[in-house]
Amino acid sequence: MAETKTLLRALAGEVQDVPPIWMMRQAGRYLPEYRATRAQAGDFLSLCYNPELAAEVTLQPIRRYGFDAAILFADILLVPQALGADLWFVTGEGPRLSTITQQSDFDALKPVEDIHETLAPVYETVRILSRALPSETTLIGFAGAPWTVATYMIAGRGTPDQGPAHALREENTALFEALLDRITAATIEYLSAQIEAGAEVVKIFDSWAGSLKGEAFQKYAVEPCRTITQAVKARHPGIPVIGFPRQAGAGYVGFAKATGVDCVALDNSVSPDWAAENVQTDVCVQGNLASSHMVTGGQALVDETRQIIKAFSKGPHIFNLGHGITPDADPGNVQLMIDTVRGK
Ligand code: CP3
Repeated sequence: MAETKTLLRALAGEVQDVPPIWMMRQAGRYLPEYRATRAQAGDFLSLCYNPELAAEVTLQPIRRYGFDAAILFADILLVPQALGADLWFVTGEGPRLSTITQQSDFDALKPVEDIHETLAPVYETVRILSRALPSETTLIGFAGAPWTVATYMIAGRGTPDQGPAHALREENTALFEALLDRITAATIEYLSAQIEAGAEVVKIFDSWAGSLKGEAFQKYAVEPCRTITQAVKARHPGIPVIGFPRQAGAGYVGFAKATGVDCVALDNSVSPDWAAENVQTDVCVQGNLASSHMVTGGQALVDETRQIIKAFSKGPHIFNLGHGITPDADPGNVQLMIDTVRGK
């Protein structure tokens, strides 16, 4: 039977007059209905581990806007927690974790086969969603890339320059690489379980890939993404994978060929014309409207949206933002973006 889901068609390489559209962080604090459900859950992590409510917030932007894809509501930092790290969120500041700075911290982590105990509710969310979503909507599962997850595990928080992770990489390369290998193995198991539960696509978020340069980018961004992509595809033949080496710049070129991903998600630091010539020639691309337009709106949003669609019109394209929508965004601007993409 011919594929009817527009997102899966783009991932298979089809050029479509109207690109499928979804939005990073589409379930989030800019939506009043999200804030209400989060309050009902108590806090962010309780929401992630409550399958009914996590499915509910995943569905909210689908109901409101009719996006072509839904992304599982969870967080990349659930994997460190499942490996035994302490994790909590400080309101207005972000995540905090117990740190990994020496061998004994690493030795205290749990083995990979134990992660499902913590992550089982996430798989249940996926099962609920695969029953509840409209037949035209694609369900995306996800995980953080090993480097990005490691930056949080090492520092115990988000950092502007990933300094602690770079320091460990230089001062104790063996420990750093052992940590990356553990996260890589856990990520393969986690994504496979999401696929078994009903995820139709998986996305690997390497939000801090841009701080790896040259050989380090190859070793710690490209190689883990290739290992995960190949293992997941070996277990689940045909499963499409989206890679997001954010801020990779020139590192976007050849990334798909080197890793085997079916789509490269682009942040908005690269111009669509450049990416059409240098990335989309190999693979489907996703992106890359600046998320600030969701705050500012107006004619600039419309013009920039049209320019991105035009630049990517000759190859497979999934419309998206260059990064997540922010809490101060106006839900009306999201509708304006969608109407512009769909030519309404
Ligand atoms: O709608 C979706 O996109 C699906 C759910 C999703 C969340 N986080 C929910 C979330 C996804 C795919 C993520 C990925 C994620 N989480 C990344 C990679 C993508 C990126 O943004 O670069 C990273 C680095 C994280 C780690 C993380 N989670 C941070 C640094 C923070 C705090 C900053 C912030 O935006 O508040 C979070 C919290 C988080 N994850 C929220 C949501 C909706 C906000 C929590 C809240 O409701 O208070």
